[in-house]
Amino acid sequence: MQTQEMTRTKAPAGAGDAILSVNNIEVIYDHVILVLKGVSLTIPRGGIVALLGANGAGKTTTLKAISNLLGAERGEVTKGKIVFKGDEVQALSPNDLVRKGCIQVMEGRHCFGHLSIEENLLTGAYTRKDGAAAIKADLEMVYNYFPRLRERRQSQAGYTSGGEQQMCAIGRALMSRPEMILLDEPSMGLAPQLVEEIFEIVKQLNEREGVSFLLAEQNTNVALRYATYGYILEAGRIVLDGDAKALRDNEDVKEFYLGVGGEGRKSFRNVKHYKRRKRWLA
Ligand SMILES: Nc1ncnc2c1ncn2[C@@H]1O[C@H](COP(=O)(O)OP(=O)(O)OP(=O)(O)O)[C@@H](O)[C@H]1O
Ligand SMILES: [Mg+2]
Repeated sequence: MQTQEMTRTKAPAGAGDAILSVNNIEVIYDHVILVLKGVSLTIPRGGIVALLGANGAGKTTTLKAISNLLGAERGEVTKGKIVFKGDEVQALSPNDLVRKGCIQVMEGRHCFGHLSIEENLLTGAYTRKDGAAAIKADLEMVYNYFPRLRERRQSQAGYTSGGEQQMCAIGRALMSRPEMILLDEPSMGLAPQLVEEIFEIVKQLNEREGVSFLLAEQNTNVALRYATYGYILEAGRIVLDGDAKALRDNEDVKEFYLGVGGEGRKSFRNVKHYKRRKRWLA
């Protein structure tokens, strides 16, 4: 367990072979709004790493910086660098990055509502040039991981459930044959049982297909059960990082993020008020 001052020298176990490293980045929107203030993260090859934090902490901004999608938001990485498999991502287009194996599943699912589930999945193969047979085989692989999608393959995505749309969004990302998936709030708006089902599939994809994951989540509880390592982001800074188990057992994390502190769950609205008491800011 490390505080911010020490994170620069610390990395998750096995990080010697990092698939992704984010080094001290700063992100500014509209030339003036400073949102990320020196964020560093390491994702080991084959790891599942959780990026945790409340509303507006900067999770989505971090993921968009990694997948080089900030331009569309008038955002810019103004300091630091991000390296995926040896290349600086700022030098690659978002499409090149997908071809190289890094893809983001956006917050809020974003399926094409007027297309069928299967048509949505096939749109995920747009960067590939290895032919129809390979794409068909991967479609089968996606259906094996997500049997619900096979059942709903002909359904118009807009009329499927939130859980099915989240599965469709992950399935579509898989169709690009990624080595790393940036998954933004997969639990958002879903019933606990479905959240569990989706995280189980993430775990299987990690173990069987070797896909590395960076999971942005407000749902600290579920994320820390599936991730091996976690970072906690507050107001654009990493305030704490460590092995998932150590974070689960940490008193501050319990109090502020797991809602199991002595006095019961504290609302995020009150976090600011309690901030001075946090041991990691002391
Ligand atoms: N395009 C934008 N222009 C200006 N400010 C932005 C933009 N996008 C996000 N922000 C601001 O950046 C901060 C971080 O937002 P971000 O969406 O990265 O947080 P988040 O941790 O993903 O939050 P949530 O859990 O609500 O999704 C917020 O204060 C937000 O208002
Ligand atoms: Mg977000």
